[in-house]
Amino acid sequence: MRVMILGDSGLLGQALMQEWSGDEVLGLNSRDADIRDKDRVRETVEKIQPEWIILAAAYTNVDGCESNPELTFTVNRDGAAYVAEAARRTGAKLLFISSDYVFDGKKNSPYEIDDKRNPLSVYGRSKAEAEMRLLDLLPDCCIVRTSWLFGTGGKCFPDTILKLASSRPALDVVDDQRGCPTYSIDFARAIVQLCHKDATGIVHATNSGNCTWFEFAREIVKQAGLPTEVRPLTTQQMPRPAQRPAYSVLSSASLDRLGIAMPSWQDAVSRYLQERKL
Ligand SMILES: NC(=O)c1ccc[n+]([C@@H]2O[C@H](COP(=O)([O-])OP(=O)(O)OC[C@H]3O[C@@H](n4cnc5c(N)ncnc54)[C@H](OP(=O)(O)O)[C@@H]3O)[C@@H](O)[C@H]2O)c1
Repeated sequence: MRVMILGDSGLLGQALMQEWSGDEVLGLNSRDADIRDKDRVRETVEKIQPEWIILAAAYTNVDGCESNPELTFTVNRDGAAYVAEAARRTGAKLLFISSDYVFDGKKNSPYEIDDKRNPLSVYGRSKAEAEMRLLDLLPDCCIVRTSWLFGTGGKCFPDTILKLASSRPALDVVDDQRGCPTYSIDFARAIVQLCHKDATGIVHATNSGNCTWFEFAREIVKQAGLPTEVRPLTTQQMPRPAQRPAYSVLSSASLDRLGIAMPSWQDAVSRYLQERKL
């Protein structure tokens, strides 16, 4: 099977390139094919003729999106639609990576795949609108929502915490936003399985269990053996440009139905720390 990965230089893209074996895998980034360029996207897909396209390319700076809505929608929604149109022309299957930020976080039980989208941020709106466009253009595409991605391939929350913890006696971290940390390696493995199972429709895929950012930071510091104190903070005490959902735990039911299991986030933290040392 020939697989084309858009966004191969990103946190997830690097994990996909590392974990995918047994198939012919071609990775591309914005220099190879900027997804805002409709003709370039079409030509690239026509040339490569992939069986699967994994669309992991996006403008992911959630706070930056608030001040750059035009760029956000051009990349995350319009670019995604150009990829879907190219997939439709060539008969390729498409797996699109989406986000927990399509939800408003007002629930207090895990979000199911058919829960109503109600994004709070520009980034979340761009992902929600992309999902709707893609389902319209390519009803059999697979949309995989994940959350709180971390890995060794780029800037992420555990990396920031470890850097700060090594130079400060105490860290203050938000304790009123709850979600599911997800290790890029575990997520990449789930994506490979989804393609091999010819998955379609919306799927939620995260590491199992959930926590607040404070609990996540405390676990990272504990497992790293650092003496840094981690103290809880409210979102109000630490305002950011983009509003985040207070609760964005994604239900594993859709993944369970496909027979795919994900390790716990605490186990993922331990493997991330090992990989970071290598
Ligand atoms: N990070 C999270 O916590 C999180 C949570 C939920 C969902 N997601 C979703 O997961 C996916 C992967 O995220 P990530 O954290 O791996 O992202 P990332 O590290 O920011 O990487 C983004 C990738 O997209 C590419 N890209 C950006 N703009 C592009 C354009 N105009 N044309 C073509 N490629 C472009 C980048 O290529 P260049 O290097 O060439 O710029 C890079 O390879 C995204 O769809 C994101 O929305 C992420």
